[in-house]
Amino acid sequence: MADSPQHVAIIMDGNGRWARSRGLPRAAGHRSSMKVVRKIVEECVQRKLGYLTLFAFSSENWRRPPDEVGMLMNLFLDALDREVADLHRNQVRLSFIGDRDLLGAELARRMHNAEQLTAGNSGLRLFVAMAYGGRWDLTQACRSLAADVASGTLAAADIDETRVAERLALAGVPDPDLLIRTGGERRISNFLLWNLAYTELYFTDALWPEFSAAHLDEAFESFARRERRFGKISEQLAAKADA
Ligand code: FPP
Repeated sequence: MADSPQHVAIIMDGNGRWARSRGLPRAAGHRSSMKVVRKIVEECVQRKLGYLTLFAFSSENWRRPPDEVGMLMNLFLDALDREVADLHRNQVRLSFIGDRDLLGAELARRMHNAEQLTAGNSGLRLFVAMAYGGRWDLTQACRSLAADVASGTLAAADIDETRVAERLALAGVPDPDLLIRTGGERRISNFLLWNLAYTELYFTDALWPEFSAAHLDEAFESFARRERRFGKISEQLAAKADA
């Protein structure tokens, strides 16, 4: 059976529905969701998880009404102001993945500062995906490889899976062991398309603002019951365990 996950990725869905079910504006759901982000990061620090990757804003989320996009960007700015010192105290190393050129200059500046401040920390590595899409990630990796081929520093024939992985946003980071998606939908929604190839998927109907440490326990327990074969057969895994 699987050990504890080393890298967990989360699609935090259901903020809008949570708010609507309480007769509140969608913005109230997003604000409430920040408390859950804080709680789950704390839980992951306590559990000594290696890597946590949170999908905060997708390439497709730009299609939301401008008011909601603006509200979310302000929420991210506030969150950076409020949370970074605490993350730093807890030895969390914070990094962002996604197309920063699409974000406002002030947000990009604070993201950069937060990364610089926490760069030397040795605890949880927290990746926040902002303006991120798996197709964007693969496209920018292709562009980077093509530029090297065009300049003559790389032969097209030398492009292999390792070289592609090196150009992705999560280069050097082990692939997620477990993906959790809240909010009842059962899809990947253009998250880490390359990195999720062998990730165990866990879907829960809990909406993100109501996701708790107990829900996280359930996800980890489900993960512990999975048999991760990575293309092999059960007997091969059993033989290795006996050796
Ligand atoms: C999902 O709910 C939420 C989003 C698409 C973006 C908002 C995310 C946060 C506020 C968390 C931010 C996290 C960090 C680390 C900065 P939804 O609006 O899609 O809900 P719905 O499916 O019920 O409409």
